[in-house]
Amino acid sequence: MECVEIIGGKPLSGRIEIQGSKNAVLPVLAGCVLHAGISRIRHCPRLQDVEDMIAILRELGCLVWWEEDCLTVDASFLSGTVLPKETAGRMRSSIFFLGALLGRCGQADIPYPGGCVIGARPVDFHVEAMRSMGAGIDEAEGRIAARAKRLRGVEITLKLPSVGATENIILAAVLAEGVTVINNGAKEPEIEELCRFLRGKGARIRLLPQGSLEITGVSALKDSEHELIADRIAAGTYLLAAAVTNGVVTLGRMPVQHMQALLDCLEKMNIAIKKEGKDITVDCRKPHRGIEFLETAPYPGFPTDLQSPMMTLLAVTEGRCRLRENVFEARFKTVEQLRAMGAQITTEGREAIILGVPGLHGAQVRAEELRGAAALFLAGLGAEGRTQISGCGFISRGYENICENLKQLGADISVEE
Ligand code: EPZ
Repeated sequence: MECVEIIGGKPLSGRIEIQGSKNAVLPVLAGCVLHAGISRIRHCPRLQDVEDMIAILRELGCLVWWEEDCLTVDASFLSGTVLPKETAGRMRSSIFFLGALLGRCGQADIPYPGGCVIGARPVDFHVEAMRSMGAGIDEAEGRIAARAKRLRGVEITLKLPSVGATENIILAAVLAEGVTVINNGAKEPEIEELCRFLRGKGARIRLLPQGSLEITGVSALKDSEHELIADRIAAGTYLLAAAVTNGVVTLGRMPVQHMQALLDCLEKMNIAIKKEGKDITVDCRKPHRGIEFLETAPYPGFPTDLQSPMMTLLAVTEGRCRLRENVFEARFKTVEQLRAMGAQITTEGREAIILGVPGLHGAQVRAEELRGAAALFLAGLGAEGRTQISGCGFISRGYENICENLKQLGADISVEE
């Protein structure tokens, strides 16, 4: 899906179900190599990032197959510990194989996952943590080569509550000798989901009273079946699509308990929200109230992954908003594209000043990364006239069947390969 064309101005209405969580399943897939046996993951989303992780698992000697939305990984015949540059180098999540392969095999050789337009995205916290657990690590020619007879449990205090570093340490600690304690770890729902998946395989992980995570190494794990949580970022994106088009939309299989920061925002903006079990219905037909200040923060704060889609809604909401991005240093790349559609946004460092306009107009725009692509989809849905978005390959990294879902909600959207 390279290019998408949207004829905007149609309020979305109807019901869709939310996919399994991309940012939960990626560390879970790496975690499958910790067990020389079967891991079944139900409600697994069919995404480019998932397919890339499957390619790596197969490269390492695992058997992987789909049965509808259930993905099975058999890591009994794991034979490799070297990740291929072409697949692993282009995605951030290959870094999780550092902890998982060190834990299972005592060695790992992976390419740097690389940065992207939202920031440098270093992996120093990951490497420091593995060294502190006893791994010898060489970093040369764009690769990380790690070895350890058997990792040993240690107490680690992270400088920042890094989601990926927290997950990598958990993966490394599950089979390590002794006890690992992670202080100042990330608290995102995807962390708890990884722990739930690993506990389902026999790992010993518990949350300490002061909020640290304690992992007690075990000698082996077991076969398991896991039902994946829904994707809170995909869910938030569809809620914002409903808001941008002043529609009335019901979303099923919602991870409501993980979405309070966004739901609070939408309620402040005069959007009516009705919760019924795992369904949420938003009625966005009333005039929206503006927000003067909003900033992203680690969970349970406003998620950085919804910053760009939220910027689209704020761009067409009356008033002036100061939007601050605290997590990544370069996550305003979509501003230029939104301005080409009539948005009035200026940026300075980590802050964007958004002056709401009555509406955007269609234009030819280009996506450069996943959540920026989502923001442009929302802008096209709400704009008057035709919007052509190129660079849409990014969107399939994180949103399963997004065009089909939006069509089901009444959007006029077509895909050009
Ligand atoms: C995860 O990225 C998510 N990706 C991101 O989602 C999400 O935006 C991010 O967490 C924050 O919530 C996946 O889960 C696959 P971090 P991650 O480590 O783990 C710095 C999406 O759109 N840092 O919490 O890479 C880093 O530069 C993606 O779905 C270091 O300095 O995020 C950033 O400024 C985008 N050194 C901050 O910490 C390190 O070793 C938070 O990054 C690691 C991170």
